[in-house]
Amino acid sequence: MIRVDYTHMLADVIGSDKGVTLSELEALSERSEQIHADLQRRRQRGELPVYDLPFAKKVVEQIRQVADEWGGRFDALVVLGIGGSALGTTAVARALLPGLYNQYDRAARNGRPRLYVLDNVDPVSIKQLLNHLNPVDTCFCVISKSGTTVETMGQFLIARQWLQAAVGDGCVDQILLVTDPEKGVLRRLAETQGYRSFAVPDGVGGRFSVLTAVGLLPLAIAGVDIERLLAGAAAFSERLQSPHLLENPAYLNAALHYLAYTKGMPISVLMPYSDRLSDFSDWFRQLWAESLGKKIRLDGRIDPVGPTPVKALGATDQHSQVQLYMEGPLDKMVTFITVVTQDDIPFPDPVGIPELDYLAGKTVGELLLAEQRATAAALARCGRPNITLQLESLTPETIGALIYMFEIQTLFAGGLFEVDPLDQPGVEAGKEYTYALMGRPGFSSVRNELENWIESVEPRII
Ligand code: PA5
Repeated sequence: MIRVDYTHMLADVIGSDKGVTLSELEALSERSEQIHADLQRRRQRGELPVYDLPFAKKVVEQIRQVADEWGGRFDALVVLGIGGSALGTTAVARALLPGLYNQYDRAARNGRPRLYVLDNVDPVSIKQLLNHLNPVDTCFCVISKSGTTVETMGQFLIARQWLQAAVGDGCVDQILLVTDPEKGVLRRLAETQGYRSFAVPDGVGGRFSVLTAVGLLPLAIAGVDIERLLAGAAAFSERLQSPHLLENPAYLNAALHYLAYTKGMPISVLMPYSDRLSDFSDWFRQLWAESLGKKIRLDGRIDPVGPTPVKALGATDQHSQVQLYMEGPLDKMVTFITVVTQDDIPFPDPVGIPELDYLAGKTVGELLLAEQRATAAALARCGRPNITLQLESLTPETIGALIYMFEIQTLFAGGLFEVDPLDQPGVEAGKEYTYALMGRPGFSSVRNELENWIESVEPRII
């Protein structure tokens, strides 16, 4: 389903010291095998449930049942969440639902609701969205692993008030919750106010949670075939069993990124040549940045580290960022994703414009692939490393496989970069400061400390 072409990462191909040698990969093999053994040990101990998500059949049956019931009842579904509670749904929906899905009429949507994901607290967007929807016909998935994140709680309060004004207490039947099995405000509401709810399994952080109810529930309500998504991940897991770098696409990809980082290329561009994968880059950007960008290493030493993921889109960014990638500082590697398009458009036969005759007999899909091959080769010839992930098609199976591969790649990269890929102390610090400034009880000392600091700084504003 996915092939990793790393030809343009190799030093003898790109003729630059930024390239990787096979002996460098070999030198990493012992360490890789240790990381593999450690991951497997932790998996056996139940500490890495991410590995097992594609096989969670019982939960999926429960999700399917609720999704079919709710999917048939409503004309619109709004996901309330942020970060890892929203990005996966957006990415998969964009990849697998038709581009203009929300503009289709209900029959063309197979009777399923339109899908909106409110991944922010911008009042303008919230107002515009609610003004556009009919409360009688709208349901919400409120998704927060912690069940306390202020953005999601804020969205929830506004949405619930909007629903209540139209349908009164019946709003309980229009809101689904996905949250921690035990803790947090959302769990308490599920227990005391009768909301239907699903649990985010313990040990699965937001950015790793798209293959739990976090992503599966809203995606299934909107009509995505989640069983095929998981089947793709499960099938591809076979290819991720090997401890050997050159046999395991997730490990190889992580190792190439790590070696690039050690060679002075901390920037990692993800550039799919497919509009439908554009939001996938946002999901990956969070996974890579939040998992690997850390101050404290596994042995406790303070030594900030982490690659910087950048989002680009082919061919669009060939006319934007690629100039920088081609000639700017040699501080980045590029990962392309290509997809063989099934739904192609042939160019017309010659139409009396001789300068354009060369396109006759070819297709738009061929043009897009040619652009990617041209860009990859041009970068390589300038000594700029790049990888191409080739997808045989864009289906629930290949997307499931890609998600799973990137998740395992990230866990493995945590070992290479010597960080815990499952925590996010920087995000938590930001959350605490926001709670403090918004006056949440229990955060007054943080508030005092922050306000004192703000006051101690002389503002310079022009
Ligand atoms: O990956 C993560 O852990 C974070 O990005 C969270 O998903 C994000 O902060 C939202 O948190 P929560 O799902 O607890 O509301």
